Amino acid sequence: MTTILVTGGAGFIGSNLVKYMLNEYKDYKIINLDLLTYAGNLENLSDLEDTENYKFIKGDITDRELMTRLFSENQIDQVIHLAAESHVDRSITDPEIFIKTNVLGTQVLLDCAKSAWTTGKDEWGYPTFIEGAKFLFVSTDEVYGELGKEGLFTEVTPIAPNSPYATSKASADLLVRAYNKTYKMPVNITRCSNNYGPYQFPEKLIPLMISNAIDHKTLPVYGDGMQIRDWLHVKDHCSAICTVLRAGKDGEVYNIGGNNEKANIDVVKLILSALGKSENLITYVTDRLGHDRRYAIDNTKITNELGWKPSCTFEEGITETIEWYINNANWLKKVRSGEYMNYYTRMYGSREVLNG
Ligand code: NAD
Ligand code: DAU
Repeated sequence: MTTILVTGGAGFIGSNLVKYMLNEYKDYKIINLDLLTYAGNLENLSDLEDTENYKFIKGDITDRELMTRLFSENQIDQVIHLAAESHVDRSITDPEIFIKTNVLGTQVLLDCAKSAWTTGKDEWGYPTFIEGAKFLFVSTDEVYGELGKEGLFTEVTPIAPNSPYATSKASADLLVRAYNKTYKMPVNITRCSNNYGPYQFPEKLIPLMISNAIDHKTLPVYGDGMQIRDWLHVKDHCSAICTVLRAGKDGEVYNIGGNNEKANIDVVKLILSALGKSENLITYVTDRLGHDRRYAIDNTKITNELGWKPSCTFEEGITETIEWYINNANWLKKVRSGEYMNYYTRMYGSREVLNG
């Protein structure tokens, strides 16, 4: 049995990942550590409450004392680090928490894992690590900044993040790299494109648009809606993370993407058409500050070296996702109440409506 600490396991990707891993592999014990911020929802994992090889711990990755105790009380073999502040718009209005959680939190985890896994020193003074140790950092394609009309991000594209969120992820990503270069700590970094699927918090484009369309509310499209994202179903991201965890070469970075570039406005129109709603619901609003125009991933490395490829087309994935939100209206209703509604007013209340 391999014990894996998953951080941020109550969030969108984390909760899908925990379920995916417990379903696919019988040799994992999973400890899910999550602070349960506005984005963490334990209800996503309510069906795992009685699962023997699963444990939830509420805690903050920036709490060094707690993280030290977590590693000393549990024999953790590997870490998949997802916990983060993840929403670009929030990072524009309140960058500080992004630096604290995403940068300092990652450094605390790296330190605690390094201490717990060190067995001694080699002849050059580098630490030696327990067999099978691995720190997998779930980074993002946003660390590369934006693309023009042509080209794809590869693993050697220079890091040039634009938003406070992307910069905090790039800083954490480079810290993980540094722990490999300086201490030879066994790490992998994955840089994935935009995910969609069940349990995504409805502040992100796809669940927000589905939810507003269901409720017959306006759909706020930033700027001209021609920004391009490379969409990947979350279950394909989960399978890619597991592929890297099991077969990734120590110290390597792997890009993950869906080969599926779409302009925002086309995604929004597709959602409206699938729900049988009018395009009159589309409302063009003031653009996001510093809005990256285009992201697109070159998957060649993970495909050629590890044999992973996406299994789900966007057309299949989006249909399944829309159905999930329709069938889980209660989940959506609960998530959209309280803090989320305050946030919504703060975020959209002051945006000027451009198309009346
Ligand atoms: P999310 O916002 O849905 O979930 C983040 C989780 O982290 C939440 O459960 C939250 O409670 C937890 N968390 C926040 N601060 C914490 C802290 N201090 N201590 C412990 N837990 C804390 O995010 P997501 O969309 O599921 O993304 C997960 C990871 O994947 C993030 O690191 C993100 O940068 C990365 N990523 C996301 C995407 C995407 O499209 N969603 C794409 C590429 C990479
Ligand atoms: O590329 C990976 C990244 O994808 C992850 O690292 C981030 O955690 C994740 O949030 C996501 O970032 P984006 O900014 O691309 O996702 P978001 O869903 O916020 O926005 C997608 C696009 O849709 C973007 O061009 C902004 C636009 N948008 C978004 C919202 C919320 C709108 O036009 N209207 C909206 O209301």
